[in-house]
Amino acid sequence: MLKGKKIIIGITGGIAAYKIPFLIRLLKKEGAEVQVVMTPFATEFVTPLTLSALSERPVLIDFFDKGDGNWHSHIDLGLWADLILVAPLTANTMAKMASGIADNLLLTVLLSARCPVYFAPAMDLDMYRHASTKNNLETLQSFGYHLIEPAEGELASGLKGVGRLDEPEIIFSIIKKALVPQSPLEKKKILISAGPTHEPIDPVRFIGNRSSGLMGIELARAFAARGADVHLVLGPSKYSVEHPSITVSRVTTAAEMHERITSLYTDADITVMAAAVADYTPKDVKKEKIKKEEGVASIELTQTTDILKELGTNKGKDRILIGFALETENETQNALKKLQAKNLDLIVLNSLKDKGAGFEHETNKVKLFARDGKELEIPLKSKSEIAKDIVTYIEENLISE
Ligand SMILES: Cc1cc2nc3c(=O)[nH]c(=O)nc-3n(C[C@H](O)[C@H](O)[C@H](O)COP(=O)(O)O)c2cc1C
Repeated sequence: MLKGKKIIIGITGGIAAYKIPFLIRLLKKEGAEVQVVMTPFATEFVTPLTLSALSERPVLIDFFDKGDGNWHSHIDLGLWADLILVAPLTANTMAKMASGIADNLLLTVLLSARCPVYFAPAMDLDMYRHASTKNNLETLQSFGYHLIEPAEGELASGLKGVGRLDEPEIIFSIIKKALVPQSPLEKKKILISAGPTHEPIDPVRFIGNRSSGLMGIELARAFAARGADVHLVLGPSKYSVEHPSITVSRVTTAAEMHERITSLYTDADITVMAAAVADYTPKDVKKEKIKKEEGVASIELTQTTDILKELGTNKGKDRILIGFALETENETQNALKKLQAKNLDLIVLNSLKDKGAGFEHETNKVKLFARDGKELEIPLKSKSEIAKDIVTYIEENLISE
C-alpha cells in the first residue's frame, strides 16, 4: 500500500528513539522507502547500524563525511520526501525548529522540505507542560506541521502523565492515512461468505466440495485494508483470519450459512458471496454412523435455499450484491445468466479449465462482468492480488460517492 512512497524519519535524542526501529519495519513491510536522518545526539539512543539495516539505506547524520568530503544535499533530501516525520522530537529540536535554527542536517532538511511534516514530541511531563514547549509546539503548527500528540502513561523518568511517544502501530497508521488517499470503502459494512459447506450424512460423513475459502478470506483482508468493517461468514476451511476490522462467524452447513448471512444482510452496504454453498443436502441425517453391513442403496437429497437468489430478491436500491460463478462449460454465458437471474451488480467468474485457477490453488484467474455491461479480465496471479484488484474495481466502478 505504501509502495513508492518516500518517507524521511528524523530521529532526535529522546529515550523513545528505541521505538523507531519497529516503526521502520512496519513502513518497509508496506513497501515504503525510508530514509533516516538523525541528530548527532540521537545516535546515543539508537544505533545507526540498526536503523540502516532495517531501512536498507545509510543513515544520514552529518552534513558531510570528514574522511572523503562527500556531502549530503539537504535540498535534494527535502525535495525527495513525500512526507517527513520527526519522532521522537525533543524539546531542544522543537525549539530550534520553531526559530529556524539549522545547525544540523535534520534541521536543514526540514527547512528545505516542501512535503507535509509530521512531528511527535516526546519528553517528560514537566518539559511538555512548560510554557516554552507549548509556544514552540503552537509555532510548529502555525507552519502547517502536523502534531502527533504524545500519549499519557508511565514515562521513562518513572513519572506518570502526558509525554510518551505513541506506539509505532499508531504512528504508522497516521502516516499511512496521510500518504494513501482515503478509500470510499472506509467504514463501509462488508459481508462476505467464503469456503465450502459440509452437509452431514451421518455423524462422521458429509457431502462437501473442494472450496478452500482462501479467495473470500483474501477479499476480506483487501476490504479491511481499505478501512472497511468486514463480517466474514466462513464455512469449514483450514484457513483462518485475524484482523481488527474482520469479524468471523464460523458455520458448517448451507442452512447455517443461510441463517447467518440473512441475519447480517440488512446491515451490509456490500455483500460478496464467495462461498461454494451446497445446492443439495441429505434429507435425513442418520443419528448413528451408517454401518457397512447395513449398506446404503441411495441417499435422498433435498434442495437447499438459494441464498444468492434470495439476497438478490431483497436487495433494495442501495445495497451492492456480488456473486461468484465457477463454471466448467459455457462459462461467460452461464455467468451472465446468473448475473441477471440473481439480480447481481457484479459477478466474478473463475473457470476450472484454467490451470492454477479455482479451488485448492493459491492463485486464480478471473473475469468480472458488471450489470452495466463492463467486463474486466484479471490474469493469473495470487489470490491476494486478485482480491485487491476486485476491491479496486468495486471502489472505482460500483461506489457512487
Ligand atoms: C537519558 C536521556 C533521556 C532523554 N530523553 C529526552 C526526551 O525524552 N525528550 C527530550 O526532549 N529530551 C530528552 N533528553 C534530553 C536531550 O537528549 C537533549 O536535550 C539533547 O540536547 C537533545 O538533542 P537533539 O534535540 O539535537 O537530539 C534526554 C537526555 C538523556 C540523557
